[in-house]
Amino acid sequence: MHGILSTIINFIVVYLPPMAANGAPVVFMHKRRGRPLDFGLKWIDGRRLLGDGKTIEGALIYMATGVVVSSIISLILYNNIYIKVIVTGAVASAGALMGDIVESFLKRRIGLPRGAPLPLADQLDFYIGANLALLACNYCIKPVLSSYVAGVVLIPILHVVTNKLAFKLGFKKVPW
Ligand code: CTP
Ligand code: MG
Repeated sequence: MHGILSTIINFIVVYLPPMAANGAPVVFMHKRRGRPLDFGLKWIDGRRLLGDGKTIEGALIYMATGVVVSSIISLILYNNIYIKVIVTGAVASAGALMGDIVESFLKRRIGLPRGAPLPLADQLDFYIGANLALLACNYCIKPVLSSYVAGVVLIPILHVVTNKLAFKLGFKKVPW
């Protein structure tokens, strides 16, 4: 069993970058109309591949945030540029981005328009993606069981709270 402090450090190193990355496009893209990641293409069901909520600019902001946040974590926790921490943050963020994109693809396939809520999937899409990417990355720092469990419990709660806040601040048109 991991001690509480090492669990918190593990959680910060492994999950904070993808969490920040997941929230960044909402903050930076709410006033801009980005270029849709699916180039406006439609699937065989006649609906958009991903929809206008997934943009190229958003994806770049997503990855940049993951790298910047993990670099800051490396500097604060290790007083140094610790490549393993930064790679872990980048890989987790890339996986999170993939999870977010796959979820939009699935939402469009079941006929949900952009921005429509899909409880639990909306909250955990990026978390599942981040975990799968970390699982596949041999070089990365892995989540310990207790931080993984903390993520499952905390992330949906945090997601609801931060989305309500983003709505109040005018970053989102809907409170979810
Ligand atoms: N966003 C973006 N590019 C991304 C991810 C997010 O531009 N790759 C921006 C969009 O402005 C999006 C907002 O962040 O509307 C919130 O993201 P999210 O909740 O994931 O998208 P939704 O608009 O809810 O669309 P979807 O139904 O496809 O999830
Ligand atoms: Mg959404």
